[in-house]
Parts: sequence; C-alpha cells; structure tokens
Amino acid sequence: MLETDHFLDIDDLAPAELETVLDRAAAIKAGEDAARLPDHTLGMLFEKPSTRTRISFETGMTQLGGHAIFLGPEDIQLGHGEPLSDTSRVLSRYVDAVMARLFDHDDLVEIAEYADVPVINGLTDDAHPCQTLADLLTIREAYGGFDGVEAAWVGDGNNVGQSLVVGAAMVGLDLTVATPEGYGMDDDVLEQAADLGHPPTVVDDPADAVEGADVVYTDVWISMGQEDRREEKLAAFEGYQVNNDLLAGTDADVMHCLPAHRGEEITDSVLESDRALVWDQAENRLHAQKGLLVELLDA
Ligand code: CP
Ligand code: NVA
Repeated sequence: MLETDHFLDIDDLAPAELETVLDRAAAIKAGEDAARLPDHTLGMLFEKPSTRTRISFETGMTQLGGHAIFLGPEDIQLGHGEPLSDTSRVLSRYVDAVMARLFDHDDLVEIAEYADVPVINGLTDDAHPCQTLADLLTIREAYGGFDGVEAAWVGDGNNVGQSLVVGAAMVGLDLTVATPEGYGMDDDVLEQAADLGHPPTVVDDPADAVEGADVVYTDVWISMGQEDRREEKLAAFEGYQVNNDLLAGTDADVMHCLPAHRGEEITDSVLESDRALVWDQAENRLHAQKGLLVELLDA
C-alpha cells in the first residue's frame, strides 16, 4: 500500500514506493501478477487530447477487471461552468479513482483537495508522472537497472522532462540536460532533484549532453497549449534536433514520449531506426499504470 492518497507528481511516491510500482508493473507485464480491480471504475477527465494516456488507462482498467469512463470537457458540466470542486466531490461519489489531464497543475491540486478517492495526474503543463513511470520501466528493462546508465534530455524543459528529472533523481539515474537558454527546467524541479541527492548535470550544448550517453530522450518543442509560441520556440530550439548528426559517434538508444513532430525535435530516420525505444516505451504506459492503479487502490 502506498502512503500517498494521490499521484500528482512523481515524488508523491517515496523512492522505495517508486521501485515497488515498477516491480508490480514488471510482474503484471510478465503475467506473474493476477491482481485485479473488479467492479472498480476510473473516471478520466481530459482537457487536452490524448492517444496513449487515454487508451492505456482505459485498456488497463479493462484488463484489471474494472472499467474506465472518458470524460471530455464538452461532455460534462465542467465544460459548461460547473466548478472543479463540485465536479470532484460528485465524481468521488461514483468512481474509485480519477485520472485527469489538465492545463493548469493547480486545477489538478484542487481536484485532489476535494476528492475522496485517489487522483492521478494524466499530464499537466508542469508534470507527466505516469510517463516517467513508463520511462523508468523502459530504461530498467533495456539496461537491467539504473546503475551506470547515462541518460540525456535534449530539448524543452517541459512537463515530461521535469517529471523525468525528479524520477531519475529518485532512482539514481544519471541524467544530463541540454535546453536552450530560457527554456530550462523550473528551478524548483532542479532543487527537488538536488534535495534527493542526484541532480541532473545541466549543459547548453546538445553535443555535450549526448556524449557518452546510453539513452537520449527528447519531446516536442511546442507542447499542447503553446501553439501561439510556435515561431518563437522553433527559432529558440535550432540546433537541438535529435538527428543522425547529433547521434554520430554514439550508440545511444533514443526515447520520446510521443506524439513526435518529425522534422522538428527528432528526425524520421532516427525515429524509424533500431535506436528507437519509443514503441516499448509507449507499451509500458499500459503496464506501468496498471502497476500504479493496483498499488494506489491497494488491491
Ligand atoms: N505520451 C503521452 O502522454 O501521449 P498522449 O498525449 O497520446 O496521451
Ligand atoms: N510535452 C508534451 C507531451 C505530450 C504527451 C505536451 O505537453 O504536449
């Protein structure tokens, strides 16, 4: 059983609990764990689109013997003026857990404040901890653990990167971060990683980040909700593309949470190469979240 009521940020788990969730996920993936959530319902609130998060949570609940309900903003009264606080309290009377993908992280915190059931972050502008569970599971599978693995983040200091920075610190994964000036990880995220005793190395030049890396991770430069900053960000991220030139001289694997914008943060040839761990990574969303659900709902 986990100490936390909710999973809003990766460090809502203690480091040992993070390992427990990964172990549970691996056991479920290997077919060794028959834990089930019969008659359990997950309410899934989405303010932004999703392929992986929606489908992996919905499929995961089905496979665990439960059920998931997709709640788009236009489908429910939340999109027509009903407050978050009321929505959260009412949802709590029906469902066993809530997963929410929102813009504002504070809105997620508010949902959790009013919920009587566990709330799971399905991505906010600040964090994507479910992605980190899958990312760490993927790295652990590919390299047999985290000791001695060198990871690099190249690109935007965004939600996916921020959760990875903290998650990497929690498991002792060495991470080097290369972000353009003005687009780095938030200071409080870097401080959290430092407090955990394993901060990332921050560099300016992507070539410095990927040198000696076992795995290079990138994500879109224009996250959902930033479409009006497209021109500004494309200019700022010039030179940060993960392409064959950047990877030349390394035999690094490549990770991406997907969806990818081919030709921007990553090239088609890299994504289609043997370096890409992205399909295992996407699959692992399913296993990681089943592990989380079982542990969080104490089944
Ligand atoms: N990686 C991820 O969260 O993908 P979706 O936006 O498709 O859910
Ligand atoms: N950083 C991206 C991740 C999508 C899964 C976004 O927020 O749009």
